[in-house]
Amino acid sequence: MLSNHRTTLTQFLIEERRRFPLAGGDFNALILDIAIACKAIARAVAFGELGGVMGNHATEQGGTVNVQGEVQKKLDVLSNAVFIRRTEWAGNLAGLASEEMDQPYQIPKQHPRGKYLLVFDPLDGSSNIDVNVSVGSIFSVLRSPKDLDDMPRDQQRDVVEADFLQPGSLQVAAGYALYGPTTMLVLTVGNGVNGFTLDPNLGEFMLTHPLMQIPEDTQEFAINASNSRFWETPIKRYVDECLAGKTGPRAKDFNTRWIASMVAEAHRILMRGGVFMYPRDTKDPGKPGRLRLLYEANPVGMIMEQAGGRASTGERAVLGVQPDSLHQRIGLVFGSRNEVERIERYHAEPVHVESDNPLFAVRSLFRN
Ligand code: AHG
Ligand code: MN
Ligand code: MN
Repeated sequence: MLSNHRTTLTQFLIEERRRFPLAGGDFNALILDIAIACKAIARAVAFGELGGVMGNHATEQGGTVNVQGEVQKKLDVLSNAVFIRRTEWAGNLAGLASEEMDQPYQIPKQHPRGKYLLVFDPLDGSSNIDVNVSVGSIFSVLRSPKDLDDMPRDQQRDVVEADFLQPGSLQVAAGYALYGPTTMLVLTVGNGVNGFTLDPNLGEFMLTHPLMQIPEDTQEFAINASNSRFWETPIKRYVDECLAGKTGPRAKDFNTRWIASMVAEAHRILMRGGVFMYPRDTKDPGKPGRLRLLYEANPVGMIMEQAGGRASTGERAVLGVQPDSLHQRIGLVFGSRNEVERIERYHAEPVHVESDNPLFAVRSLFRN
């Protein structure tokens, strides 16, 4: 009833495609299959305890952990299977990779292969699932390697990790679904960011948030402060200055938020601005950051940049980073452009050395 006048996701994709008269329908078909996967996950999430999908995943041998050593929830495993099932059959993908799979997934021999790769985190923020707080799915679409094109299907090699190690600037599309009070799909195909709300009556994503833009300035930041003793100096400085409020160097009060669901934080930031930080820290020297480059930082990075925001490692644009492994972690800062650039400036400035001499204090004229 409320959706009659709105553009559906299908209509939106068809109209977008008219800009590229030579384009086949594969890309649109892939996005629509991803949308169906997201709708299926939204339903599983909505049934909660009634659906028997809460809690940790277990086999006869006991609980399972993914390649990063994180305990898998039932819904992590289920959502991963839904993504595969919905996208593997159509001949649009050459392979898939996800947070929940150690190695790239090969398209089964009975299905044709296609010209895209799909990389995804099937359920982001899954520690929130048992407490009924928003979770999401996030994905990135890349082109598949050229050498697969000129061989018949049965002579093609498997896709390998190296095929997926493309910088975020090469993404063809990126998006996320947010399973919150409403289910939303937010998508960029490299021409701005558009938000669709799932109409539960029609089961269709309807364009409700065309050309989303992130405000350049903000007074809201998101960081897990329990890690503060492990932060590097530029992040400490940034947060301290925010916390100092009106009487501090920023001369305004800041607000904080932390949902522990990156997708949900990205959505809040798209809607009203803000800055999200999960920086590299010294907590575990084996982990250069918490979030994963290929299926968290890169898709969120493309969405941020396409909405006028910015995504950075703290030092440089996330989208420029050449990945070196499938499950690589990275420091991530994203959101309102002026704040992210400020954090990058703090990283570029020489490290402040504590000094008793007031002339060399942080805000003095003579900073070391
Ligand atoms: P995932 O559930 O896919 O492992 O990702 C969780 C991520 C991210 O969504 C969130 O921002 C962050 O981990 C939360 O980390 P903390 O538990 O350190 O707050
Ligand atoms: Mn995640
Ligand atoms: Mn996940």
